[in-house]
Amino acid sequence: MDIARIREDFDVLKGDKPVVYFDSACMSLKPVQVIDKMNEAYKEYTACAGRSSHRFGSRMSDEYENARAVIARSLGAKPGEVVFTRNTTEGLNLVSNCLELKKGEIVVTSDREHNSNLVPWQLLSDRKGIVHKVLPSSPDWLFDLDAFRVLINRGGVKLVSVVFSSNLDGYSLPVREIIKISHESGALVMLDAAQAMPHKKVNVRELDADFVAFSGHKMLGPYGTGVLYGKAHLLEALSPFIVGGETVENTTYSGHSFLKPPHRFEAGLQNYSGSIGLAAACEYLDRVGKENIIRHEIRLNRVISEGISSIRGLRILGPEDAVQRGGIISFTLEGMNHHEIAMILDRNANIMVRSGQHCVHSWFNSRGIEGSVRASLYLYNTESEADLFVREIKKLAGLR
Ligand code: ALA
Repeated sequence: MDIARIREDFDVLKGDKPVVYFDSACMSLKPVQVIDKMNEAYKEYTACAGRSSHRFGSRMSDEYENARAVIARSLGAKPGEVVFTRNTTEGLNLVSNCLELKKGEIVVTSDREHNSNLVPWQLLSDRKGIVHKVLPSSPDWLFDLDAFRVLINRGGVKLVSVVFSSNLDGYSLPVREIIKISHESGALVMLDAAQAMPHKKVNVRELDADFVAFSGHKMLGPYGTGVLYGKAHLLEALSPFIVGGETVENTTYSGHSFLKPPHRFEAGLQNYSGSIGLAAACEYLDRVGKENIIRHEIRLNRVISEGISSIRGLRILGPEDAVQRGGIISFTLEGMNHHEIAMILDRNANIMVRSGQHCVHSWFNSRGIEGSVRASLYLYNTESEADLFVREIKKLAGLR
């Protein structure tokens, strides 16, 4: 992987003193190829897809459906199984609102879910009486497959909805085994792949996942874009929860007939250029090769983890081995507040990290941890940036 070449695609990384951008788990940078593709839609053929039959309209329809086909190919899915959404949160909400879940039926999540894969189930348990069960991690921070098997085998589980890769420490759950065990007992599986898609080749067929939700903005794509993948027969069985224009093939004063999936779930005017940009991002990542990207991130993660782990009072969250944390180094430093560290890094060294509870409040609260500093790496980061980060953290630790 030619990092210098890749960095040329990101204007913000050019110049004499470019930022050291270590916040890609929150928001990745965007390459010129994605920005150009989106601008092209605005500049050259802005129109409503699927409505106007003039040449701008038909170009927009073609580009939009082509974007769906590109993303479907990248996922190993059929185009009809790719629903465009605004983000992962919307995808998860679409399923939680549309799947027939009855009182007493169980939804299982892990204990490290983003609020978007927690609050919808809490709401359903209040409103419909579904039972939401949170499976605790093992003492070594890993997904507890044995406990999961026991829980599933007790019966009554309708859906297992888990994060693929965790944004709090980078750990990836054993999703293949989770899916296999769940299916053996008749439960469906939904994956929150927001942090997995940017780094891992996700083939929905090989995984046999039932639903997979992800966002564009963490994978070089535009904000406010995302995808919900659903197996064709499962999407077919869902009735939509946001309805109106673009979801129906016909209406009368007394009735309507819905379009087939995925259009049935894409109500109102869509973010066409966004979806087109997301497809360009998919193509970019597939061209570079996600296996190269994750290998690079782990190499840099090792440099950082080894460099900072001996600092007194510094604790890296998650599994010890960097291999299990992908591109994430999330840590606490005794005697210093996480937000303060993030601000000093930005001010003094041009390094951008995220600090706080990373929308996984439940996990932090259950452990009495106020928050962490999180460095998250991506394909454009370099070894010299990793070295600089280690030096700056050591300097900061020396100030205590
Ligand atoms: N955007 C959130 C993060 O930074 C989820 O991890």
